[in-house]
Amino acid sequence: MFELEINASKTYTVTVADDLSAFKQKVLPFLKGESVALITDEKVNALYGDALNGFLSGKRLLKIVVKSGERSKNARNYLKIINALAENGFTREDAVIAFGGGMIGDLAGFAASTYMRGITLVSVPTTLLSAVDSSVGGKTAIDLAAGKNLCGTFYQPSAVYIALSFLRTLPKREVQSGLGEVIKYAFLSDTVNAEDIKRADGELVFKCLKIKRDIVNADEKENGARALLNFGHTVGHAIEKLSGYRLSHGLCVAKGMACAVAVSQRIYGLSDQTVAKMRQLLEISKHDLTNTFSAADITDAIKADKKRKGDCVNFIVVKDIGKPQIVKIRFSVLAEIIKEYENKNKAI
Ligand code: GLY
Repeated sequence: MFELEINASKTYTVTVADDLSAFKQKVLPFLKGESVALITDEKVNALYGDALNGFLSGKRLLKIVVKSGERSKNARNYLKIINALAENGFTREDAVIAFGGGMIGDLAGFAASTYMRGITLVSVPTTLLSAVDSSVGGKTAIDLAAGKNLCGTFYQPSAVYIALSFLRTLPKREVQSGLGEVIKYAFLSDTVNAEDIKRADGELVFKCLKIKRDIVNADEKENGARALLNFGHTVGHAIEKLSGYRLSHGLCVAKGMACAVAVSQRIYGLSDQTVAKMRQLLEISKHDLTNTFSAADITDAIKADKKRKGDCVNFIVVKDIGKPQIVKIRFSVLAEIIKEYENKNKAI
């Protein structure tokens, strides 16, 4: 079992355990009220719907299940959740458990952060992507028609419990999606290498979380260093939106990172050798890095991004592996680089 402490506006522990055997000890002290809302999706519910019940005996359990997939991260489900909490008499003593992947973490976290101006949130991620990234650091959100994650809060959980046993049963596509975020960490820090990524085990999860902890502890509200965690996400979110959220987040981030490498090459004049090294890292996840959306559509979608500054967007590039930078780039220049790259090798 590994543990690490997040010291943001709230201090809390992230437990990475083999299974649920330490759940009671690590999570129950935070469930002070009599009621707990377990928020999950249909897939997780079918597989593990009752997995936490034994640890929550004595609590009044309200289970709320939404359809699986990013398209559930919407205002309708948000209202469904907070109305269910109100109708079931939840008070500020009570708690929400986000039990699922990144979509559930964002949706349940947003509901917990706003219901009665904030009730206890515990995160139990069940996917690689949510374990290494979204369950930690307190970002919560729902998507709007204009774009992904446009309505949300920073709201730290009281505890995060990662049971690796959930990750071991993930379908290949889900592991592959998680590798999109994992590879992001390998670009941000030289503490995660290709061998770690290929092993995709508990040690990898812990290594990624240590990078995230250091960044969140330094800049919880993304006024500086935390923006580095958006590497690949500016183009990635645009592609995700253009696909109607049919393409997985990890796949879109991988495509976005391939594009960010092209932007980095243009800005820093990276050698072909450095770019080849970066491409090798990206190719570990075996994602299809080609793109079906036009440079103009991608740039237009980015105009709704939170990181927009007038006719520029804050964009994360890399001088080398482990050396990320934030730059301000004009939409016209970004469109040009995406188009040029697309034409050159049809691979963003
Ligand atoms: N997923 C990026 C962040 O937590 O800042």
